[in-house]
Amino acid sequence: MSGCPFMGKKYQFTFNKLSLEDNGEEDKAQEGLNKASRGGLIYGDYLQLDKILSAQELQSELKGNKIHDEHLFIVTHQAYELWFKQILWELDSVREIFQNGHVRDERNMLKVITRIHRISMILKLLVEQFSVLETMTALDFFDFRDYLSPASGFQSLQFRLLENKIGVPESLRVPYNRRHYRDNFQGKDNELLLQSENEPTLLQLVEAWLERTPGLEREGFNFWGKLQVNIFKGLEEEVGTVRAKEESEDKNEQLAELQKQKEMFTLLFDEKRHEHLLSKGDRRLSYKALKGALMINFYREEPRFQVPFQLLTSLMDIDTLMTKWRYNHVCMVHRMIGSKAGTGGSSGYQYLRSTVSDRYKVFVDLFNLSTFLVPRHWIPKLNPSIHKFLYMAEYCDSSYFSSDDSD
Ligand code: HEM
Repeated sequence: MSGCPFMGKKYQFTFNKLSLEDNGEEDKAQEGLNKASRGGLIYGDYLQLDKILSAQELQSELKGNKIHDEHLFIVTHQAYELWFKQILWELDSVREIFQNGHVRDERNMLKVITRIHRISMILKLLVEQFSVLETMTALDFFDFRDYLSPASGFQSLQFRLLENKIGVPESLRVPYNRRHYRDNFQGKDNELLLQSENEPTLLQLVEAWLERTPGLEREGFNFWGKLQVNIFKGLEEEVGTVRAKEESEDKNEQLAELQKQKEMFTLLFDEKRHEHLLSKGDRRLSYKALKGALMINFYREEPRFQVPFQLLTSLMDIDTLMTKWRYNHVCMVHRMIGSKAGTGGSSGYQYLRSTVSDRYKVFVDLFNLSTFLVPRHWIPKLNPSIHKFLYMAEYCDSSYFSSDDSD
């Protein structure tokens, strides 16, 4: 007989007080009412399991040659699609909060950061999930692969929606058979994709939010202007200190390094160059938003910047995990089909390998910020008014008291 051996008190633990019949006490484990016996919603109906659990139709079985591992293949893909759905659910809600201006009420930022963090946790799971499918051998896959052609993950609507809504632009996509990725989708799916290309992306919404970072105003705290002065003053001082040293190879190396740093910072403060890189897709955030992001990084310990800093960190997590997803997927594909063409018609491994690159990193500018970190004493000191402002939410900010709430 199968089932749990501890049910029916077949066995008794005699150590400590774990015995079910210990001290003649009632078996507390059996207390409670079976509410479902009174009718109403039950588990299977609530989750519509009849639909979900009857959706595993093995093509191999239909063709009269049932292959055991096709079941795993189908369940794995379905699990991915369900999680993609949850990610889109969270992503849409976050975009809505930004779009409706609810982030002006800083209390809503907690909701944003929680949901973005949730997305990254799901992605973490999805990155790991390939290892289950990898228990299938290439030979086992080969046995049923032909049955599923020309179906391919390339036709995953939700994956494309996800990329679009985060902010992967059409212009940076790796071409697939020299065709537009949307050509693989017809009717309503095609419309949904078009719509997602035209809606504000998470990147654009975060960009607009970063541009409003308090302290950037030239006539106010003027973070950028002050930072520029401090950096070049700091570098000059360092050059002076090194020059005063005795001649040596080490001294020359240090001077060359400082010269390199000077050139790098000159480029940072060159707005025209930023615009040029933006037009090529090498930068994704506007110049003003980049300033805001750097400011949040520098003053992340100030109370009002702590949550924004967490958000920037989680956005990088999403990019990193999407890259890891692409990498794990392509490694698995290589192992399963070598360099054969994909069922969807691409070159397969070669095509997928070219997607594991920075062009798919939406928040690439946030990663690059680390290039511009400077010693703490070069960071402009906060004056009392901006310090107070960053310390507490602006109490006269009408939105702080507004009843506007987000879902
Ligand atoms: C044995 C396992 C798998 C193999 C051999 C495989 C193979 C491939 C290949 C060759 C492509 C390129 C398009 C084509 O020509 O078909 C592709 C794309 C894709 N696959 Fe898979 N795949 C596997 C599992 C999965 C799983 C579990 C998912 C989860 C949803 C998935 C999602 C995708 C997606 C979203 C794409 C499009 C990627 C892009 O264009 O950037 N694949 N797959």
